Amino acid sequence: MAEISVIEHIHSMQLLWSPMATGQFTSLMHDLILSAKIISRSVTKAGLVDILGGTGDINIQGEQVQKLDDFANSVMIYRMKNCGVVCALGSEEEDELIIVDTDKPRGNYVIFFDPLDGSSNIDANVSIGTIFSIYRVDDNTELTKENILQKGTEQVAAGYFLYGPSTMMVYSTGHGVHGFTLDPSVGEFLLSHENIRIPASGKYYSANLANYAKWSEQDQKAMDSFNNGKYSLRYVGSLVADFHRTLLYGGLFSYPADSKNANGKLRLLYEANPLSFLIEQAGGLAFDGNGKRVLEIEPKEVHVRTAFLFGSKEDVEQYRKAF
Ligand code: AHG
Ligand code: MN
Ligand code: MN
Repeated sequence: MAEISVIEHIHSMQLLWSPMATGQFTSLMHDLILSAKIISRSVTKAGLVDILGGTGDINIQGEQVQKLDDFANSVMIYRMKNCGVVCALGSEEEDELIIVDTDKPRGNYVIFFDPLDGSSNIDANVSIGTIFSIYRVDDNTELTKENILQKGTEQVAAGYFLYGPSTMMVYSTGHGVHGFTLDPSVGEFLLSHENIRIPASGKYYSANLANYAKWSEQDQKAMDSFNNGKYSLRYVGSLVADFHRTLLYGGLFSYPADSKNANGKLRLLYEANPLSFLIEQAGGLAFDGNGKRVLEIEPKEVHVRTAFLFGSKEDVEQYRKAF
């Protein structure tokens, strides 16, 4: 069987769907993939080198920064700033948007990323990941915050790298969702999951039930409807891992707003938008706490948060019916 590398796949998708492409996008993906391989290498060796534990700092999200958060963030920023095709970037770990300063012609891409998702799981060797979301801006568009912050429907690509028992990459450019597994013996991501479709319903539901008392009555009722004997509970606490399982097995994930996080906890630009793009591409649904498609939310601020409900069509509809 021919083994297809991820860059080969991206390139063939470009030829099929964007025959006039300049190669900028493929070049961006190449550097993004290199960043993930470098992060994956450190994650794999984390117990052997001094990279576990916290840095002692608190980030813009008010959370403790782990050494691996910091490392992954530096790798991503360095690569994305220097790849030559990105004009602006936003990271969950940075206070402000970064505009790439260059004396060369400006790149046409904007990227948002969560450099290391699932920080609380790092020291326990539980699956973590990197999530990315890519947009385009024209050459003559002024790089203001308003022009850079676009609705999720405008994403040209989104995906994640999952550092689990194997390292995987899952991505979409709006033409299906495709999964690749890193083969360390050749150092490449090879196609392992072509055209992933989420099952119409699943047998797992996923939420941090410790927050139950803080949810609205509607969310409590909606979640109660899953305690009907058909479902089993799964919650990793690394969004990227909870998402990957839901994508492959089907089911439901919900992180509603609560009395502590009035707008939900998960971040629109780095987490909810890219994962909503993927789940819709795979045939599933993604909403905020008001029944609005996540992808339709107009982001006003870079670190804006949202309630996040996604999964198999039938399971998400069951949740929504309880409202
Ligand atoms: P991050 O590690 O990037 O800060 O994200 C943590 C997120 C997400 O991965 C997960 O779904 C959620 O936080 C878990 O939150 P709780 O601990 O509140 O359940
Ligand atoms: Mn995260
Ligand atoms: Mn993070």
